[in-house]
Amino acid sequence: MFQSLQPLPPDPILGLSATFKADSNPEKVDLGIGVYKDEHGNTPIMKAVKLAEESLLKSQTTKSYVGPTGAIGYNETIARMVLGDTLLDSLGKRRLTIQTPGGCGGLRLAADFIAKANADTTIWVSNPTWANHKPLLGSAGLKFNQYPYYDYLTHSLDFEGMLACLKQVPEGDLVLLHGCCHNPSGADLNPEQWLQVRDAAIEKKFTVFIDLAYQGMGTGLEEDVYGVRLLAESLPELIVVSSCSKNFGLYRERTGAVTLICESAKSCATSSTLLAAAARANYSMPPDHGAAIVQLIMNTPDLREIWDDELNEVRNRINRLRSLFVQRLRAASIEQDFSFIENEKGMFSFLGVNENQIKVLIEKYSIYLVNSSRINIASINDSNIDYLISSLKEVLDS
Ligand code: LMR
Repeated sequence: MFQSLQPLPPDPILGLSATFKADSNPEKVDLGIGVYKDEHGNTPIMKAVKLAEESLLKSQTTKSYVGPTGAIGYNETIARMVLGDTLLDSLGKRRLTIQTPGGCGGLRLAADFIAKANADTTIWVSNPTWANHKPLLGSAGLKFNQYPYYDYLTHSLDFEGMLACLKQVPEGDLVLLHGCCHNPSGADLNPEQWLQVRDAAIEKKFTVFIDLAYQGMGTGLEEDVYGVRLLAESLPELIVVSSCSKNFGLYRERTGAVTLICESAKSCATSSTLLAAAARANYSMPPDHGAAIVQLIMNTPDLREIWDDELNEVRNRINRLRSLFVQRLRAASIEQDFSFIENEKGMFSFLGVNENQIKVLIEKYSIYLVNSSRINIASINDSNIDYLISSLKEVLDS
């Protein structure tokens, strides 16, 4: 039965990572996959995480099943982190949070849940959006449409185009927004723009679905959820999928969550049975280790302080690198204006180079970037910046 199968092309992000690993050029630079790297090019385990792991190793007494919706303490911790104390209390039983295997698991589960509510749902995604959104959400049968988001000519958010399109979204459709640190562009909505999106959602009665994979990586832990909290307090329904891959560095531990805000406590109770059943049917229950780490860190003041400092350093380093990169590109007398990179948030920006130039960067210089020209700013460091700038100059000048 397998004879008739045809191979698929490699994943645009993970496939690039594999090619990078196989490259023997000692000067190679991986600007591809969205994984934080320190100044030595490593993706270290955070100190707070290590300490939490040591403590868990001593204190855990069982590896018995947790359940399809995960650990209650973790779910409350994530809800508090995303929504904040006041909003969480005021939402009461209109809110539920369930643990998922990473943000991807959360997106897939939320998609299953949406398909149960309405199998014909159309979800509007930003143009462009993260390469895995369509495979994840589409595999539950959701249909897609796009709203304009990024203007490649001006290297900035096309908010006018976005809003005009959102005002045409039919009632009952879903609109997927990135909570912060838009992947792949790094161009985020400002508070005034979030207000206008909120008003469009109320007027047009579409449901908002927020992918929050980078809380704390843009401007700050609280600042990065301005939009999420604004929508959570104003809209009757909201879906938020969050991830601890980046802000806790728990990538392989698959630590995420779905938070749902429903019109009523009754609808929330019903939804929770559907989400639990979807989890059970997909993977039975989420892995525990990452969630136990997050729960412990966020509820132990000493660990929390260490983690806050580490996360601040991660964010500040990325923001410093953005400025340094722009400065160095300017100093190299590269004609193109890259100043937009300095204003963007999170790990990514588009370099704005064309497919041919990307090919040369990869094949001739072993500088790896996704074929949309998305680069991971966190991969730049003192050891590779000279090579990066001189290679870019050669490619751009040729
Ligand atoms: C990325 O966008 O590079 C990351 O979110 C990793 C992934 O799974 O694609």
